[in-house]
Amino acid sequence: MNWQNFAVGIIDFGSQYTQLLARRMRELGLSSVIIPYEDALAQIEKKQLPKAIILSGGPHSVFLDNRNFKSLFALKNIPMLGVCYGMQLMAHHNGGKVEKGEVGEYGHTELFSQDNFYAEKLQGDVSVWMSHFDQVKSVGNDFKVILKSPKNVIAGFQHNTLPWLAYQFHAEVDHGTHNREFLEYFCFEVAKLKPDWDIDSMLEDIKARINFDPKKKVLCAFSGGVDSLVAAVIAQKVLGADPYCFYVDTGLQRIQDAEHIKTLQTNLGLKIEVVDASQLFLDRLANVAEPEQKRKIIGHTFIEVFEQKVHQFESEKGIKFDYLLQGTLYPDVIESVSPHGKDGPSVTIKSHHNVGGLPERMHLELLEPLRFLFKDEVRRIGLSLDLPRQWLFRHPFPGPALGVRIMGDVSVERLRMVREADHILYQEMLEHNLYDSIWQAFTVFLPVKTVGVKGDERAYEEVICVRLVNSFDGMTAKISQVPFPFLEKVSSRIANEVKGITRVVYDITSKPPGTIEWE
Ligand code: XMP
Repeated sequence: MNWQNFAVGIIDFGSQYTQLLARRMRELGLSSVIIPYEDALAQIEKKQLPKAIILSGGPHSVFLDNRNFKSLFALKNIPMLGVCYGMQLMAHHNGGKVEKGEVGEYGHTELFSQDNFYAEKLQGDVSVWMSHFDQVKSVGNDFKVILKSPKNVIAGFQHNTLPWLAYQFHAEVDHGTHNREFLEYFCFEVAKLKPDWDIDSMLEDIKARINFDPKKKVLCAFSGGVDSLVAAVIAQKVLGADPYCFYVDTGLQRIQDAEHIKTLQTNLGLKIEVVDASQLFLDRLANVAEPEQKRKIIGHTFIEVFEQKVHQFESEKGIKFDYLLQGTLYPDVIESVSPHGKDGPSVTIKSHHNVGGLPERMHLELLEPLRFLFKDEVRRIGLSLDLPRQWLFRHPFPGPALGVRIMGDVSVERLRMVREADHILYQEMLEHNLYDSIWQAFTVFLPVKTVGVKGDERAYEEVICVRLVNSFDGMTAKISQVPFPFLEKVSSRIANEVKGITRVVYDITSKPPGTIEWE
């Protein structure tokens, strides 16, 4: 990715917060791009530079990092912000001293301003988020210390003449009292950047990057989720394409999904065709209980059905598709810098299914209008294109759908139970005005029989589990704090209205150690 002409180029040293830096810059109206250090070096050599550079945090220690930083720190006139590891790097290579700390600083920390740094800028007590072990012990002669922590650790410094600044803390995270002000200080006062990123420039950027020829034929594996929806509407309204969208009905969808697709078919002016493959999915899933095997069957069957439909369609209509439209987002394509290096260990927790695998098989060029955008930007664009809020702020829903919300074998009867329970949960969330404050909500079918009473009769029936979580990006999650009367209502309705269910339980597991889905 070329970072020339971006307002902010972020060099990724492997921090878990690097993506947040890019998002925060965009929230300030500044175009931002993340690139690995090796790519940054290559572009510095070619003098292709962004207007400002941020050095991200990272898990390394400056003592063990033998890479060459000369050309980076020779960029005297480029505004630079060092964050955490990036600050230590700036100190270490510019006359300062970094040492191993005796104890690290983690979590909330108060800050004290040196040299009146924030007499005007920041009012009240200042708290920031720290996560570091090594410490900057002294700064070079050309720098002044501007912030310290209560342990007398240097928490920020600034160059006396160059537009260089450094923070030991993470002003890009959610915790902290004055994060925005800290970032604004760098962007607008030190770097003197001008906002260049809004809805219009995002759309301009998409058009310029893609340079679409409207004569080309576009195919889309449409799910009705936010990403494929906005991608299809952009393709239509911004790029001038007329995409053909196939929605594969796997028989594993929720009641509200079928309704949603119908609404989109009637209201969008897009060609959306439903391909009913529910029986095939059910047949293939019969007697399969192992979660990974279920995921693989659903994934392969989806691709097979989609491909077959497309070939049939092409031969019937006598056309040939040129592009496969996908709602790929920026976080999917940022080349992640593993804390363990290029060959570091990685573990498959779950084999995720979307439409991965389709592009390679179909030999189509990819059309990815959202490739450079974060989810919140996609939603903003959606709103600007007049898509209703409730379409853009739906909860995430996994590709394998209810298939991974039925523990054990999938059957028509179990699908009915989980589907009805899920719909009751959905209706009650809307009724109690809770939908928008919960990040993801669903029910899971548990094939465990328990004893209950229904009327005066003994019941010996199965269990539905309710899972409600709040999360930022699905990587970690907490259980949602919802009122008990709401849970009581959901439980009572499920046990009374869903035939075959007597007991409802509430999952109180965070992620980690649990994952959000049960399979
Ligand atoms: P886990 O269960 O891994 O889920 O904590 C994190 C988020 O990802 C969703 N999820 C999926 N999304 N294809 C998807 O598109 C999948 O195969 C898949 N599996 C899990 C899950 O619903 C949660 O939002």
